[in-house]
This record gives sequence, C-alpha cells and structure tokens, in this order.
Amino acid sequence: MLDAPVSQLSALVRGRKPGYSLDAPFYTAPAIFDADMEAIFARHWIYVGVEPDVPEAGDVMTVDVGKASVLIARDDDGAIKAFHNVCRHRGARLIDDEKTSVGNIVCRYHSWTYDLTGALVHAPHMGSSFDASCNGLKSVHLRSLEGLLFVCLADEPPADFDVMAARIGPYIAPHKVRDTKIAYQSDIIEMGNWKLAMENNRECYHCDANHPELTVPLFAYGFGFAPEEMDPIDLENAQRYEALRQTSHSQWEAMGLPSREIDELDTMVTGFRTERLPLDGDGESHTMDTRVACRLPLGALTNAKLGGLSFWTQPNSWHHFLGDHIVTFAVFPLDAGRTLVRTKWLVNKDAVEGVDYDIERLIEVWTATNAQDSALVAMCQSGVQNPAYEPGPYSPNTEMLVEKFCRWYIGRMTGFLDQ
Ligand code: FES
Ligand code: FE
Repeated sequence: MLDAPVSQLSALVRGRKPGYSLDAPFYTAPAIFDADMEAIFARHWIYVGVEPDVPEAGDVMTVDVGKASVLIARDDDGAIKAFHNVCRHRGARLIDDEKTSVGNIVCRYHSWTYDLTGALVHAPHMGSSFDASCNGLKSVHLRSLEGLLFVCLADEPPADFDVMAARIGPYIAPHKVRDTKIAYQSDIIEMGNWKLAMENNRECYHCDANHPELTVPLFAYGFGFAPEEMDPIDLENAQRYEALRQTSHSQWEAMGLPSREIDELDTMVTGFRTERLPLDGDGESHTMDTRVACRLPLGALTNAKLGGLSFWTQPNSWHHFLGDHIVTFAVFPLDAGRTLVRTKWLVNKDAVEGVDYDIERLIEVWTATNAQDSALVAMCQSGVQNPAYEPGPYSPNTEMLVEKFCRWYIGRMTGFLDQ
C-alpha cells in the first residue's frame, strides 16, 4: 500500500486542470513519486533497451526500474528472457554490472547457481528434501518490438502491447534494430522529476531558443505554430512544409516505408505515437550537415533521404530511426527530483568505427541537445519548487503532446486510485 495520503493524491489527480501543467507536488513530493512508481512504472510496459544490448548467448544486462532491478539475459538458444535480479535464497542482488557476460548466474553469497533460462541448477548443502525446481529466478514479462525491449513488472501486463506492436512494427522493421550494434551510450542524471523530462521531450516549443544543433536537421515548421501569428511569408513557408510532408509520406510509403502519423498517446493504456517526418537540408540524418553519419545504411535501406521516423511511448521512451542510425532514449526515475536519461546510438552491426562512421559526428547533435534539455529540466524543477509556482497553460499549437502525456498520466493514476 502507499504511504501517501491517498485522499490528498486523489484530490490532486481529480483536480488537475486540463491544458495546464501539473500541480507542484506531482513534480516534488516523494509520496507522489512512490505512487508513480507503483501505479505507472510497476504496471506498464517500460522501454529498457535493445536486443543488441545482449548480442551473444550469455550476455546479461541489468536495469533498475524504481526499486526493482531486472536482469535481461540471452540464453544458449538465443532467446532473451527477463528475471528479477534477486537470489531466491536470501535475496542478494545477483548482478551489479549494467552489462556482463556469464556462463551461469552465480550468487556471490552462498553460490546458488542459475542457468540462463532462470532454472536453479546448483544449491549446495540444501539437503535431499530441497526442491530446486521451485526456486528458479522469478520471471519478468519481456517483449521485443522489432528489437526494442520492453519489460512489465506487473503480474498481468497491459494486453494492448500487441496492438501497438502490430501497428508500429511495420514502421520500425525496415530499420532492422536486431542487425545493429550500440556505437555509443550516454547516461545523464537530470536534476528534475521524470515527468518534467517526459514533458520536455513532448514539445519542440523550446527548440528554437535552445537547440541550435537539433534545429539544423529539424524543420522549424514541424514544431507547430499559431497560423494567426504568422506573416504571409512564414505562412507560405509553413504551407510548403506541409506539402513536403504529404509528398514525402507518399514517396516513402511507395518504397514500402509506412510513414503517416499514428497517435494513440492518450487513447491506449500502452500509449504511443509515430510519424516519419522530412528533414531539412539534405534530409538524410540528425547530423550537423544533415548527411548520413554512417556510410553503411541500416538493413536493406538504399535511399539515404528517408527523413526521420519518430516513435514515442508512454511512460518512458522516444526514438528516432534514420536511414543510417537510430537514437533511442529511455527515462528511469530515480527519486522525485532526479531522473536517469539513457541514450543509445545504434549503427549497422557491420559498420567499422573510424572507417564507416566517426563517433563524434554520429553523436554530436543529440549530445548537445541532451545537455541542453537536461539544463531545461533542472531549471523547471527549480521553478516548480518555488511557492509562487502555479500550473501554467500549454500552447494549443505546439504543446499538444505534452497535454496528451499529462492526460494519459492523470488517466492512469485515476484508474489506479479507483481500483
Ligand atoms: Fe544467494 Fe544465499 S543469498 S545464495
Ligand atoms: Fe529539447
């Protein structure tokens, strides 16, 4: 049960004013953070990484979702499974490293030993009446969406993951996540609540003023705007961008690349959104010259000018699929005021660093953008702690997806409180 005064949480959830940012305690109160962990992160599909995180049999990755540590392992048959990272003997954490490679999983305390299917295969001195088959590792639900790994800590995960997978699968499949390798990973601890990190991701209202690198490949007109505030020249450019978006969708779909928007951000339990959007300049990639960063394309893609396919999931991820690389982001709440944002850059697994791609060039745009976003989230966290803070209005033209995030969150919290 929650320690939080449920009636207080309930009043805040029910009192949320649509179209406005959330009340301060949603960003600052430890009790609401605990409720978020229980209602959101322990009950929904959480994006944790990619199949290339564990490319070989015996590879193990650990990831912390709140107080839970999950161990993701590839077994000798190549299957990827997820388990609670806790020994069935007296509860020791089994693996500390984020990545390792093992034959079996051996607990350092009393040497209980599990194979990569989770079975307990060795438990010395437990006597003849001990039944090892009842003491295998506890499973965690794991799903791979074309190579993107999601876990769910609940006994009964939301069933609509399959609906999402069926609809988004064809968009992602051509980028062949399974045939990539992780060229680079960055972990940033943002000094803000996880919802501020997510809200910041769900709009580009701030891009013009804060992201000089990201706005090189991204079209300014793709960020949303208020037509009534634009002069005739801007309006004409915006119309030209809209026409480009439509033509690009038709061209890409003719190549077999689904591109049109799907938006289920606040209409499904497993909320998601996708769209492939044209890029500015040469239109190839999220780089400072908008050309590819990796000479080897992903999968069987041949045309470099594929724009960027974005995929957003509730509650904790976003991804950009380019023709030559993928950038994928996962958000892990640490406490009410701190959030881990983990970014991975994926390239074709056959690409050779220094020959086919240069790391600095590959990560340049998003490394700068992440640092800028981290500062913005910290700035917002400082502000919402100020007693003078009160929820402010979202722009109806550029912050629609922030509103959808909050609506989804409030809806899920309402469902949790009503059960
Ligand atoms: Fe793991 Fe004892 S706690 S073997
Ligand atoms: Fe940003």
